[in-house]
Amino acid sequence: PTTIVWQTENDNSGTYPALVDNYNKTNKDNVHVIWHNGPSDSTSLLTLYDNTLRARSSTFDVMQIDVIWPAEFASNGWTADLTSKWPASDRANYLQGPILSCTYQGKIVAAPLRTDLGVLYYRTDIVSTPPNTFETLTSLAKSNASKAKIGYAWQGSQYEGLVCDFVEVLAGYGGSVLDPNNSKTVTVNSPQGVQALTEMVSWVGTISPTSITTFNEEACRQAFQNGDAIFMRNWPYAYSLGNAAGSKVAGKFDIHSMPYGGSGTVGHSAIGGWNMAINAFSKNPDASWSWIKYALGPAAQKQLAIIGSFTPALKSVYNDADVQAKQPLFTKLAPILQNALPRPVSAVYPDLSNIIQTHVHQALTKVATPSDALSAMQTQLQALVSK
Ligand code: GLC
Repeated sequence: PTTIVWQTENDNSGTYPALVDNYNKTNKDNVHVIWHNGPSDSTSLLTLYDNTLRARSSTFDVMQIDVIWPAEFASNGWTADLTSKWPASDRANYLQGPILSCTYQGKIVAAPLRTDLGVLYYRTDIVSTPPNTFETLTSLAKSNASKAKIGYAWQGSQYEGLVCDFVEVLAGYGGSVLDPNNSKTVTVNSPQGVQALTEMVSWVGTISPTSITTFNEEACRQAFQNGDAIFMRNWPYAYSLGNAAGSKVAGKFDIHSMPYGGSGTVGHSAIGGWNMAINAFSKNPDASWSWIKYALGPAAQKQLAIIGSFTPALKSVYNDADVQAKQPLFTKLAPILQNALPRPVSAVYPDLSNIIQTHVHQALTKVATPSDALSAMQTQLQALVSK
């Protein structure tokens, strides 16, 4: 068989190896897949890709790329064109947002394996009604402070995860990074922006430990699973792991939509997700496509939902009774998906992300006040998007 390597984002749930095993045992394509797990955060994976692809290396054939990267990868010539391989009639079966994220200058440059959306996890044995606002979340965390070390666990480390957490709070307060009608106008330094960042800063050292400024998703998940947190912001993957054997909170938590604040009226989740692209330097593009086709097929997409509580790209999985029974999180996702928002869209996204990460982190670590951080962020972002 032709052996290909699949480089993925970090997966500690056993879902990706199960998918690969199944394919290797049952496929008739004469292709054998080897799985390479990725580093524990998205920003480190981007560094790995940058180094490998700038050297035009083919150490992996299929690569999982974060939903915010396709434009950059395609414009660098790092991805193979999938437009003619993947018929439009089949694409229509997948969620529209993820497909759009795989489209660059009218071409399909990747295929969506799964989407992602931020959700609020809460302990049902501590809190009977989940909070709709950040204000209520804070007061519940404070009044139950004796029941867990951490009131609220979220991604405060300086990396891509912080951008997701920030845009969620910002949108919950009615603010935005870019003008929704004109992506050349930066709007982050607004009264809503100041309120949102001030709110996040107020959590550090109170309902969240000072060390929250070093937490990524996995650090949050481990604290939550260990029974050490009342609330957690995380992606759906933490649901399956939180209910697995060995978790101290199995059966003792649920999810809710992200809170809102100020004059906001509804919470917004950041849209995440992972797309499968063929490395433009791969010597095995056809074998790579066979694997992608399998991973996007109904059996594999259902397996992603059932094993990992991943939110797949194939629409039909969401209403599958078996999936809803085995991972009840799927019965709560429809309204959350409806209000979910993408991060700012840009072909220089990594630069934009770096600016946001740096200034939000400076406010959280009290190197800058929220107003100064936002004013510096506004100036640098405006210079970037005006280029
Ligand atoms: C998740 C999301 C991804 C996001 C990352 C940030 O993996 O799917 O889109 O960039 O988290 O940490």
